Amino acid sequence: MPGLLSSPVCLTVIWFLSWSLRPIRAQIQPDEVSGVRYAPLQSNVTLACRKSQIRTPVVWHHNNSAVLPWHKLTSDGTLVLLHVDLSTQGNYSCYDNGGLLLHSVKLRLGHRPGSLSISCRLPNHMRVRCSWVESVKTFLPAQYNAILWIESGRESKTCVVDVAQKHCDIDHPSYWSSSQTLSVQETNALGSETTYVRLPFDKLLKPNPPRSVLVTAIEGYPKKLNISWELPSSWLLHEAFPLLFHIRYRPQGSLYWSEVFSEQSPVVIFDALAGYVHQVQICARDEVNNESMWSDWTAVTLGMPWEEPAEVFLPEDPFHEDFFPSLTTMETSTTKTDDSLSPEDEGNVGLVILLVLFSVVILTTVLSLIFVVWVRQRRRNHVTKQELSSMLKMKSMPI
Ligand SMILES: *[C@@H]1O[C@H](CO)[C@@H](O)[C@H](O)[C@H]1NC(C)=O
Ligand SMILES: *[C@@H]1O[C@H](CO)[C@@H](O)[C@H](O)[C@H]1NC(C)=O
Ligand SMILES: *[C@@H]1O[C@H](CO)[C@@H](O)[C@H](O)[C@H]1NC(C)=O
Ligand SMILES: *[C@@H]1O[C@H](CO)[C@@H](O)[C@H](O)[C@H]1NC(C)=O
Ligand SMILES: *[C@@H]1O[C@H](CO)[C@@H](O)[C@H](O)[C@H]1NC(C)=O
Repeated sequence: MPGLLSSPVCLTVIWFLSWSLRPIRAQIQPDEVSGVRYAPLQSNVTLACRKSQIRTPVVWHHNNSAVLPWHKLTSDGTLVLLHVDLSTQGNYSCYDNGGLLLHSVKLRLGHRPGSLSISCRLPNHMRVRCSWVESVKTFLPAQYNAILWIESGRESKTCVVDVAQKHCDIDHPSYWSSSQTLSVQETNALGSETTYVRLPFDKLLKPNPPRSVLVTAIEGYPKKLNISWELPSSWLLHEAFPLLFHIRYRPQGSLYWSEVFSEQSPVVIFDALAGYVHQVQICARDEVNNESMWSDWTAVTLGMPWEEPAEVFLPEDPFHEDFFPSLTTMETSTTKTDDSLSPEDEGNVGLVILLVLFSVVILTTVLSLIFVVWVRQRRRNHVTKQELSSMLKMKSMPI
């Protein structure tokens, strides 16, 4: 770790500070207040039966059995267990020759802590999580003390430890401060060890993958897919810290991904392969900081572009739509407004209007023709009546 080596002064300061803050519990006396004796594996362990050195014979039992592991017994009754291994652990009791219990102790064996391998991640700008793996399996319960040192130890923050999960969390770290070092001190009954790691926060920023990815068809478009998703659960402040999304997609079975970047959901892709199921994955990264990490990919989500429904009637049949209104067109017609009609629907409406107008024109023409004929007929009748009456008049006139 070059950053670590390049600042020995800073590390010395941090080491001194952490040493002065080390927990007092680290100095547990190996000899048993709690009736437990801790010792390193592969060592020789001496168990005294009693304080005074009375040379009376004693008997030792291990796990209530008289069978003892490899050992030596001194003249004052002290038991020396040689080159102990894990099976040497357990309860040791010593009795005098009258069968009276003089002393009992539980032996636990293990190793002192070694260095830790620590890795940290920022799921957002407000939180750091560091987890660690031990380089030495100690076999013993341990405690951890984790501290974040800011600006060469000028400031410090406790990293709150979860012992079982072997990780710690810092809320509201000083994200923008340049120099940050985490120290994790592992302590068990046999000793303690502190490991330091430098934290370049800007490079450790890594969102969780986006959630609820949906890939849907767009009606009427056999080559389009609508891809939508929700923000990662870890990313609460999208306005303040926008994310960049990387979307990749391919027809199922293809080896090659197509890619597209977007700052928000949804994204419509235009070059889907008609009639194929597509695989889609998304990951996210802080939009501003291009040195930060991409999240893991989401699980593969499948989706298929819209397909033309199978035709039963010839397309010329004008009643086709009326006889078989599909479920989707019924739905859209109830929810959508008129201005969102598809071009196909608009065409049909135009045709109907044209037909109606045409028949109105024909009807009007026919009616007016009939009217004209009728008027003419009437006029002619009227004229002949007049002629007739005038002739009659003329006849009746005395000459
Ligand atoms: C343990 O005791 C044996 C026998 O007395 C001796 O040979 C060996 O060096 C001792 N081992 C340690 C680690 O002290
Ligand atoms: C060891 O002793 C403790 C307490 O005296 C007891 O609870 C435990 O069962 C014992 N274990 C064995 C293996 O004898
Ligand atoms: C004695 O008991 C301990 C658990 O208390 C166990 O780890 C150890 O293996 C046992 N040893 C023998 C020889 O029974
Ligand atoms: C794409 O999907 C989203 C979410 O499901 C939806 O809000 C949006 O209207 C869809 N866009 C299109 C063009 O269908
Ligand atoms: C990040 O962006 C800067 C400037 O915009 C550019 O110089 C740099 O190469 C980029 N780094 C990476 C890892 O893309």
